[in-house]
Amino acid sequence: MSKGVQHIFSEVSHTYELVNHLLTFGLDVFWRRRASCTAAKGGGERWLDVCSGTGETAAYLQRYADSRASVVTADFSLPMTRVALHKHEAKQIAMTLADAKQLPYPDDTFDVVIITFATRNINNSRDGLLKHLREFRRVLKPGGRFVNLETSQPKSRLIRWLFHLYIRITVKPLGSFISGSKSGYAYLSYTIPRFYSAEEFARMLSDAGFMNASFERLTLGLAAIHRAIKP
Ligand SMILES: C[S@@+](CC[C@H](N)C(=O)[O-])C[C@H]1O[C@@H](n2cnc3c(N)ncnc32)[C@H](O)[C@@H]1O
Repeated sequence: MSKGVQHIFSEVSHTYELVNHLLTFGLDVFWRRRASCTAAKGGGERWLDVCSGTGETAAYLQRYADSRASVVTADFSLPMTRVALHKHEAKQIAMTLADAKQLPYPDDTFDVVIITFATRNINNSRDGLLKHLREFRRVLKPGGRFVNLETSQPKSRLIRWLFHLYIRITVKPLGSFISGSKSGYAYLSYTIPRFYSAEEFARMLSDAGFMNASFERLTLGLAAIHRAIKP
């Protein structure tokens, strides 16, 4: 599964940001900034953006960081990380190639771990996702903050139905047309309607050993930011 995901992101790396902005009418920028702001509140010295892709979230974190904080990224896709390296903020960010299921950091390293629009990609099963969440908890310091931004399931049945319809009729055709990758956007459009509700994902955070799991729905519940603390 993870080799397949790696392949998908190597195919779409150059058009990834453009497709996101078009498909969400730019909302992904607003959501990402809000999640980065949430993560930055509370400070700390070491911040990790995991499954960082082309580095958009890490760039926001870097902008919100005070002079004591250092931002680190981890992603297993070289083509996605290469795009990140071209960002203006890249000079101040330590970028690593690493698999999220086994991060190359000791226990209790980070004040913040954030993941944006990638939890769906590590969700090959409930148990698989829980293992990843426990790995994120492992590298957080006690009291450290976990922040997750992901598409979600609107509470209203009508809005949920319209959202899933929109995903079906736009993500695959538009994403495939712009990126040239049919399988990539077929996979991404498959995962969105199947991801957990905000309530269920909050329960999973507790099951993974976090405390004070809470969430904020964004734009009619199309996306959600979850927060939790390592005890
Ligand atoms: C949809 S992109 C999200 C990128 C970025 N976080 C954002 O907000 O745009 C998913 C990213 O997760 C990475 N990824 C997926 N599974 C991974 C894993 N097991 N370990 C490391 N990176 C992974 C992919 O390479 C890809 O760059």
